Amino acid sequence: MNFETKREVLEWYERQPRTLNDQFLASIPWDEVRNYEIPPNLVPVLLYMRDVETLTDMYYRELRRTPTGRDPVISKFMERWGTEELTHGEVLNRFLHEAGVEVGESWQAQVQHTVTAFYTVYAYLLSAFTNLVGSKFTATHMTFGAIHEMTTAQGYRRLDEMANHPVLSTILKAIIREESAHTQFYWSVARLELQQSEFAQKVARFAIQYFWNPVGQGSKPREQTEYTVSTLFSGEGGIEKLDTTITKRVQQLPGFDGFTRITERISEICSESLKQMQSAEA
Ligand SMILES: [Fe+2]
Ligand SMILES: [Fe+2]
Repeated sequence: MNFETKREVLEWYERQPRTLNDQFLASIPWDEVRNYEIPPNLVPVLLYMRDVETLTDMYYRELRRTPTGRDPVISKFMERWGTEELTHGEVLNRFLHEAGVEVGESWQAQVQHTVTAFYTVYAYLLSAFTNLVGSKFTATHMTFGAIHEMTTAQGYRRLDEMANHPVLSTILKAIIREESAHTQFYWSVARLELQQSEFAQKVARFAIQYFWNPVGQGSKPREQTEYTVSTLFSGEGGIEKLDTTITKRVQQLPGFDGFTRITERISEICSESLKQMQSAEA
């Protein structure tokens, strides 16, 4: 789909029905969760994904302080997007609870509370910087958003394959559908914004080359990000799939020809954690 204007992208997005609507949520067979085992190594991954989904709200509030967040089309999208991501976090939390994992009553507040101090400073600097660059930074925000959505969806696909749990699978497939609509929005707006200015292309490419990290890194402790990434992508075909579904798609954006940062960074994390595991075993 090649949209001509941001407004068209928004209209497309608004035509998409919610996958995780009340009817879907009411149909989840929670009482069947315990009939199947969840591989223990995937529990921290599920907790991580739940937290990152929940932190979207914080990210959304930060973005609203920048020219990107004040753009009427983008802010309209973000309102619904923010709600959808929160549902993802809530559903994953319920799943963990039904599976017998200790989640606690005030988990959402706790997640927000434990955001690293580094992230708070980083977020402040980022919004100061983006206000300085102004609306030309929107292309960068949208490209970051597209990459985060694509990596999240790909992460959920891997998680689904690895967990092989029917109830989780139903939930993840629904979440992936919403993540794909988010990707379409971000990617399409990024494309339009990048097309308009070579300066925006240079800023976006530079920012992602030097500052992009897997979603959640910065707001969650580094070890948790690395654990999640390596658990999901180290296995057979993980990196190849990432390269075809994400890197190749990013390369289609104006100014991103030959851009390989995403595959490189994820491969780096996977091979570092493999080395650590080997040295722990030795
Ligand atoms: Fe999500
Ligand atoms: Fe999303």
